[in-house]
Amino acid sequence: MNKQEKDDIKNYVRYSDEIEIKQPNEDEDSRAVVESMARVNKIMFERYRHAVRDAHAKNHGILRGELEIYDNLPEHLAQGLFKEPRKYPVIIRFSTAPGMIEPDKKSSQRGMAIKIIGVEGEKFLDEDRDALTQDFLLVNYPIIPTGTVKDYLDQQKKVEEYINTPELFQSVQGAMLVAGRKIKNLIGKEDDPNHFSIPGSHILGDRYFSMAAIRYGDYVAKISIAPKSENVASLHGKDMDEDLIKNEPESFLTTIVKNFFENQTAVYELSAQLCTDIEKMPVEDGSVQWMEEDSPFQGIASLTIHPQNTFSPARRVYGDDVLSFNPFHCLPEHRPLGNIMRVRKLAYETSSKYRHHMNSSPRVEPISIDELPD
Ligand code: HEM
Repeated sequence: MNKQEKDDIKNYVRYSDEIEIKQPNEDEDSRAVVESMARVNKIMFERYRHAVRDAHAKNHGILRGELEIYDNLPEHLAQGLFKEPRKYPVIIRFSTAPGMIEPDKKSSQRGMAIKIIGVEGEKFLDEDRDALTQDFLLVNYPIIPTGTVKDYLDQQKKVEEYINTPELFQSVQGAMLVAGRKIKNLIGKEDDPNHFSIPGSHILGDRYFSMAAIRYGDYVAKISIAPKSENVASLHGKDMDEDLIKNEPESFLTTIVKNFFENQTAVYELSAQLCTDIEKMPVEDGSVQWMEEDSPFQGIASLTIHPQNTFSPARRVYGDDVLSFNPFHCLPEHRPLGNIMRVRKLAYETSSKYRHHMNSSPRVEPISIDELPD
């Protein structure tokens, strides 16, 4: 280890149980969030007579990929899953954020959920102790504007209040736009491509973030996936095909992903941003951006996606109704941290249980990538 590496390690905040601090009224606020989400989800079930996710209901492709952990990672990056340079098959689900199926022309945040298959070691949740999966859930924005359970509850109340009215989209989108503008000022970047404008930037050129913190073995981190190969890197911040948007206002995002992977291979990079200062880079408020000047994102693995049919009927049903992605489907070394993460434990469990029950389709944690239909 050279001197620079030794100095770097000294600066990384070490994980300890004291990193997390329970917030006033956290349990009550968390319960209120989950109960409200569940009420809204029941309304959505009646609308579709099919249960969908409480959030990120609409998928834009279910993809097979390969994660390759880099060789010779320095000690601070060779943590948890990333200790050994190994290849893992993964399943990716692209989505948009609302807990209802909206036309793509109503722009909203996009999700990229990743399920890594073949991960050995006891998992964090008792019910998944022997599972062979590790999930990472990412959204195309560096922070979560409602960064505490208290703020999230305020937004959730608004969603429930406006649920069956045409104002729903405007009210939630309005709150996001305000938060987005505030944050843009904070970042000070005019060209921030992960904007909330309509119809949004190219879904395959976006950069995706955990938004809030996770344990990273002996350290604490946020993680991100960014386009790496030229064919996706060149789409970063670019508009999508206007004719396609005009012709397919309902689901152009799905078509864009499908068309791209008919004949192209894309490579993305997974990276970790380690906490170097718990005051400037808090875990209990996900709305505070961890600045790259304080700690850059450092590459830990590549994610390669080869040509395939990303939206076959069998894939769509498998991704939507058989699988559940959950940040707590993880090794203890990568457990989510902070109150906005803690509330997700019950939120994802409640949403997933209801969906699998109502659709009479038990949740399956795959043990092999061969379970993903073509
Ligand atoms: C902190 C950053 C967050 C990120 C990056 C994130 C990301 C995501 C993504 C990508 C999905 C789609 C997963 C899939 O494709 O199946 C999802 C689903 C979901 N999210 Fe989040 N989310 C965050 C915070 C929250 C919070 C605070 C709540 C609620 C308290 C929440 C509730 C949900 C629920 C209920 C689902 C659906 C789960 C299911 O039915 O399987 N999320 N989230």
